[in-house]
Amino acid sequence: MKITKICCIGAGYVGGPTMAVIAQKCPHVQVTVVDLNEQRIKDWNDPNTDNIPIYEPGLSEIVAEARGRNLFFSTEVEKAIDEAQIIFISVNTPTKTYGKGKGMAADLKYIELCARQIAKVAKENKIVVEKSTLPVRTAEAIKSILDNTGNGVQFQILSNPEFLAEGTAVADLLNPDRILIGGDITPEGQDAINALVEVYANWVDKDKILTTNVWSSELSKLTANAFLAQRISSINAMSELCEKTGADVTEVAKAIGMDSRIGPKFLKASVGFGGSCFQKDILNLVYIAKSYGLNEVADYWEQVIIINDHQKRRFSSKIVQTLYNTVADKKIAFLGWAFKKDTNDTRESAAIYVADDLINEQAKISVYDPKVSRSKMLNDLDYLQTRSSEENSSSLAIFDNPYEACKGSHAIAILTEWDEFVAYDWQKIYDLMHKPAFLFDGRNILNSKELESIGFIYNGIGS
Ligand code: NAD
Ligand code: UGA
Repeated sequence: MKITKICCIGAGYVGGPTMAVIAQKCPHVQVTVVDLNEQRIKDWNDPNTDNIPIYEPGLSEIVAEARGRNLFFSTEVEKAIDEAQIIFISVNTPTKTYGKGKGMAADLKYIELCARQIAKVAKENKIVVEKSTLPVRTAEAIKSILDNTGNGVQFQILSNPEFLAEGTAVADLLNPDRILIGGDITPEGQDAINALVEVYANWVDKDKILTTNVWSSELSKLTANAFLAQRISSINAMSELCEKTGADVTEVAKAIGMDSRIGPKFLKASVGFGGSCFQKDILNLVYIAKSYGLNEVADYWEQVIIINDHQKRRFSSKIVQTLYNTVADKKIAFLGWAFKKDTNDTRESAAIYVADDLINEQAKISVYDPKVSRSKMLNDLDYLQTRSSEENSSSLAIFDNPYEACKGSHAIAILTEWDEFVAYDWQKIYDLMHKPAFLFDGRNILNSKELESIGFIYNGIGS
């Protein structure tokens, strides 16, 4: 089957960039991205592509090239489903906040809604692709909904998880380590797999396109995220031991990373991992293991989350302890609020939890982040429901100039590894601060020796 029309349900951090790259690389394929969120679609259609709702280096240029040619953003979900041969489901799958599995399992209500909508609209055979990250065996539920509520047409379900990381989404999509496609072992299943392989083969080498059965593909995505997060928790656990023993975690990471069996990536000790997926996907994995009665497996993976929570709490406690055990009415400047550099995404960012702890201690927080809006920061704090919105907004001052944010502060905390922080005039910042001037580098990006020679009392992670 030659694919000429693709639809993607969900215009978020995955759906938007992924479809933009498919449209750029496959000019002969019409790609329509649909979403229920009208504002989001309006923003994707903003005449100035610098205003699209997701900040990713290189993305606005690709959208400018393909939008209106073969890339479309729309709220007309049914029309797009009806026209497409392949439908990607790229909606959110957050941790459940209610009922059975609350706080652990993935909430599949948005996925089920998509399946029901596809079943209702489809009048011809369709390939349905799970792009969202899903619990293993979700394809079974999707298939059952499609077959039992559809109009008698045939559906093939493929699992094609996305491995892009935010901040490098475009580079990851253009040059992926691998593309994973899981499908049925039947001839129809293999045809569907081949159709999707041909789409990716427009720019990805065929030896990088891996095909498996559906369950392996679904489980590989959760496994990949669990392994990546596990490395961060492992090095973060060591960072605490380094602080007690005089070892330096950066040196330890370098030493172990040079072992080719370990490798150097994902060994950067930090204030803790954030982002919308690591925690949610590991909790989901733990829930799945428990639901099969595999309690030892569940406990093993849960420890990755326990260490991550501990690392965030340890960072805020260290600030309080170092500032003579009280931060009440002290101004603490945060540089960075996003969960990592080069993104405006703040979901599960460590900054939110550190701010919450410090506001509990009656500190006044002033924040500068180059890409995160004021309303997003306040929403993040309100979402925790620790205190009223009014109290949050009186404890959090947001600046669009880093020097203003740091002026008069007792301490600075680096929460995101934005490159621009390294280039600041740190002497000038020191002069603007209360003395003694403390600096807590939650990302180990600054030069401790230089800062100490200016007069800062420097605290990194794991040294
Ligand atoms: P997101 O919240 O940014 O986007 C999801 C979008 O789906 C939202 O705009 C929402 O309005 C829309 N939506 C929900 N239900 C809908 C429906 N029934 N019809 C139309 N639109 C609907 O989420 P995201 O970060 O893009 O993540 C999507 C999935 O991809 C998740 O399963 C996530 O685990 C996975 N994933 C995310 C990343 C990442 O870096 N963010 C990377 C790999 C995989
Ligand atoms: C992660 C994975 O890297 C992607 O492969 C995956 O597709 C995605 O999750 C997903 O499923 O959502 P992402 O969360 O966007 O991508 O970003 P990462 O680069 O993995 O960083 C996650 C967090 O870990 C960030 O807070 C980052 O600062 C932190 N981190 C990362 C460290 O603290 N140390 C490191 O060495 C690496």
